[in-house]
Amino acid sequence: MGKINVLSFAVANLIAAGEVVDRPASVIKELMENAIDAGADRITVEIQHGGITLMRVADNGCGMTKEDLPVAIKRHATSKIKEAADLDGITTLGFRGEALAAIAAVSDLRIITRTADAPFGSLLTAKAGEVVGIAEQGCPVGTTVIVENLFANVPARRKFLKKDVSEAIAVGTYVEKIALSRPDIAIRLITDGTMRLDTAGDGDLKSAMYAVFGRDFVTRTVPVSGGAENVRVEGFIGRSDNVRPKRNYENFFINGRFVNSRTAAAALEQAFTSFIPPEKFPCCVLNLTINPAAVDVNVHPAKLEVKFSDERPVFEAVFSAVRTALEANTTRPEIAVKPTPTADRAFVPVEEGRRTSLARDQLTISTAPAEKRPAFEHISAADYAKNYVPRAAAPNPYLEKQRAHAPSERAPGPAAEQKEPAPQPAPAVTAEEAPAWRLVGEVFLTYLLVERGDTLLLIDKHAAHERVLFEELNARRKARGREATQILLLPFDVPLSGEDRETLEANREEVEAVGFAFRLSAHAASVSEIPEGLEPAAAGELLASLAVTLREGTGTAAHADDLHFEKALYQSACKAAIKGGREYPPGYNEELCKKLMALPDVTVCPHGRPVAMELTRAALDRQFKRT
Ligand SMILES: Nc1ncnc2c1ncn2[C@@H]1O[C@H](COP(=O)(O)OP(=O)(O)OP(=O)(O)O)[C@@H](O)[C@H]1O
Ligand SMILES: [Mg+2]
Repeated sequence: MGKINVLSFAVANLIAAGEVVDRPASVIKELMENAIDAGADRITVEIQHGGITLMRVADNGCGMTKEDLPVAIKRHATSKIKEAADLDGITTLGFRGEALAAIAAVSDLRIITRTADAPFGSLLTAKAGEVVGIAEQGCPVGTTVIVENLFANVPARRKFLKKDVSEAIAVGTYVEKIALSRPDIAIRLITDGTMRLDTAGDGDLKSAMYAVFGRDFVTRTVPVSGGAENVRVEGFIGRSDNVRPKRNYENFFINGRFVNSRTAAAALEQAFTSFIPPEKFPCCVLNLTINPAAVDVNVHPAKLEVKFSDERPVFEAVFSAVRTALEANTTRPEIAVKPTPTADRAFVPVEEGRRTSLARDQLTISTAPAEKRPAFEHISAADYAKNYVPRAAAPNPYLEKQRAHAPSERAPGPAAEQKEPAPQPAPAVTAEEAPAWRLVGEVFLTYLLVERGDTLLLIDKHAAHERVLFEELNARRKARGREATQILLLPFDVPLSGEDRETLEANREEVEAVGFAFRLSAHAASVSEIPEGLEPAAAGELLASLAVTLREGTGTAAHADDLHFEKALYQSACKAAIKGGREYPPGYNEELCKKLMALPDVTVCPHGRPVAMELTRAALDRQFKRT
């Protein structure tokens, strides 16, 4: 007997479904795209338990007729294309006729829908891909799709679902992307009964960005409008003071479709070269408009990637539009006289608009190219840093100490003489026992020269700080000691994406053990305590970076085991550490060395990068032929 079986229709369907639908987020994406294709200008998404038990997507689009309903959930059934030639110029988000069939195959599905000219609506019920019933139903014009018990009939797939919170993160991310791609649609996301996102749908991209990222983010962006050779590029980029540790704030849309485009990302990043530090990534929300015939969207089942018939014009369009916007932004005169920025922002809430109406005609003088933000409930880490006085320097009105510290630890160290804010090494690990050594000097603003016994140490300033910071944070975390924190009188906001916020929440215990206290708000973490020894801006960077690295390691927030956290902490310490090539106040280097030298082995960091190099007296003597 032959070994080859022709699979049954049902099994073949399940396999095909897996390509389109692998987790709740992909279901939500497909359902929202259908709503958009149906011409809706209002879409409400509701999920429970990360979408695993329930997802509901309601739109006010064109709806379906009773006859069309059972056809819609068949494979290869679509109203969007008819023949092969139509594939050459796709203008809708869907076209494969696969999504509803795939969703129906792996869940309990209900669709309630009505067209404008039908007196009643209809309800279709399906289980594991089979239609169970079709009935008349009173409902408004539009469509509501309800998906329950996802993958209940596909245990292999269900096993791979992550914790509810992680699935909710993924859903939120897609909904945010779609909200950014279509500012003309009012989009709501309700997760376990809580409203997570609510966009105005007024057609203004700025107001959609405001809803997704918050005001602080929006005020740190500049508009982009440009392009080249039939590719238009419109949207916003983050200013050079609005950068991220990873790529997750780079948002590209091609003809309104959210995609991962390497070409566009490369162009963006190249355009930002020399405007931002090399280890940082820019933020953007950019929509590229291209002739649909020049883009192939049919290369990926979930349509997350596209192929351009020619990559070059896309690269050039993004590069030149972004560069132009950046240059226009930074060539502003040093002293600019300009109206209060609240005046020209359409997205200022009515309340505030009224309050500041007097200020509209006033002129303010700003000494920097950056716009001054209006008053917030909270201030951001970057601004906070300007007003921040190192704890040891003077009694600080912003900071309060809660814990009892040994008086000797409170005594001002060398850093106390600094006049300007400086990154503060935290209290020494065990400085008392430090072996005899002497800081000889610093070269290239990067390396410290230290004499210790018969050796000369060449220390990389940045790597050293990274190492010291990591050791201290990790020691605190392990001791679960909440005493080594600085309490801020004024909490500051660290802007974070939805997924970053959820990651922090999922790892709250560990993050707090490091020395943070934070409350999550709509677009940020409001930070009220930071690890001792860090200045607020650096602490903000540390927190943001922790959120990203924690998630990246395992793809889920749930598996933050000890080692994983340690690794994330180490990578993040790098972000908060002082940089080579920059001058720091006198006394600072001394303090840093003190801590480094107190560590058991100063030459390498926990992950093998060199921190210090040694040159022995004997080796030098040999070179100079003294022996
Ligand atoms: N929310 C909706 N409002 C109106 N019609 C809808 C809606 N959702 C689906 N339909 C109809 O059902 C058809 C099948 O939807 P389905 O998502 O399976 O395929 P598609 O959108 O055509 O292609 P793709 O598989 O690429 O998404 C659509 O072509 C459309 O006619
Ligand atoms: Mg579809």
